[in-house]
Amino acid sequence: MTNQQLEQQMASGVYLKRDLVLVRGKDALVWDHEGREYIDCVGGQGVATLGHSNEAVARAVAEQAATLMTCTEIFYNDKRAQLLKTLAEIVPSHFKRFYLCNSGAEAIESALKFAILSTGRHNVIATVRGFHGRTMGALSATFEPKYREPFQPLLPGFSHVPFNNADALDKAVNEQTAAVIIEPIQGEGGVNPANDEFLHAARRITQERGAMLILDEVQTGFCRTGKWFGSEHSGVQADLMAMGKAIGGGVPMGGVAIADSVKNIAPATHGSTFGGSPLACAAAIASIHEMQRLNLAQEAHDKGVYFRERLEEINAPVIREVRGKGLLIGVELKTKVAPYLKALQAEGVLALPAGLNVLRFLPPAVISYSQIDRVVEAVGKVLRH
Ligand SMILES: Cc1ncc(COP(=O)(O)O)c(C=O)c1O
Repeated sequence: MTNQQLEQQMASGVYLKRDLVLVRGKDALVWDHEGREYIDCVGGQGVATLGHSNEAVARAVAEQAATLMTCTEIFYNDKRAQLLKTLAEIVPSHFKRFYLCNSGAEAIESALKFAILSTGRHNVIATVRGFHGRTMGALSATFEPKYREPFQPLLPGFSHVPFNNADALDKAVNEQTAAVIIEPIQGEGGVNPANDEFLHAARRITQERGAMLILDEVQTGFCRTGKWFGSEHSGVQADLMAMGKAIGGGVPMGGVAIADSVKNIAPATHGSTFGGSPLACAAAIASIHEMQRLNLAQEAHDKGVYFRERLEEINAPVIREVRGKGLLIGVELKTKVAPYLKALQAEGVLALPAGLNVLRFLPPAVISYSQIDRVVEAVGKVLRH
């Protein structure tokens, strides 16, 4: 049996798979089992901001694997302590502590629990088309009905207000609200940037009414949008910031940055077997140092501007709008994107959908300008046909 057949037969079935077996990656490129090369604008769903097989990260992982892979947080650990110090250097400076976990959804679960602990309240307000993950708490905050419906009833007290609508948020937040949760740019929901007015209104309203503001930076964090964190574009200061995806350079990891405004996080209120493992921490330290060395936020900004300008030059009536920030880029079409994703793959370019009619590009920020040109040529070719 081939590897593809093995997965077809034995994997759970929750993923709609593409007809492609990827076996190797380097920087912005990946190769299939027959040696065919692709420019990877999927990047493991936005994980590979630093590119595939970064040598410093690979070395750090190998060294740590041979030193100490696991160490529960009931003990102190050198790599964990160093990661906390490194994180404190790059997050907005009002964040003083961190909770470490293993994925984006787990970071969201943790942020929700911290908001509940801090406020003693249970209601959460999220946004229409927001995506926060698929575990039961995170799914309660996620909007997309098709993800939610099979699992209803979800957590009580969760509701959704229209994105970028400060008046609706103002009406929704009250003395029962534990938290408002917002992505600085909705990724999965269509590459929709939050406007500054909405984010600042969310900050003011939550502060006035004793609720927490959670920013979901799982996709927008770690240089993706041209700054270390997406919220830096507006300067809004959240109480809790969820992190994931690129934090570990490809090694599974999530985290929550915690401001002093968050209270009552006491021993045994939360925890995780794997959270803060030396292996993931070593990978994250190396990743962040590489992002600093490569000036990756600036790279993502500059390449994002170039990428979007080139996409805007494509003369194809099917395009409605090109949008995004840094290298979180959406091309909204007047039709469904699925056939175009398939056609792009045949041209050697891997990309994602964001909802039904938005093509999403999440390339590594180490992508070269000539690779961006190749992507744009392929996009132009498939969209003009
Ligand atoms: C904004 C956002 N939050 C949370 C998640 C969930 O992260 P994970 O898939 O690591 O659980 C995602 C994943 O795509 C995301 O984009």
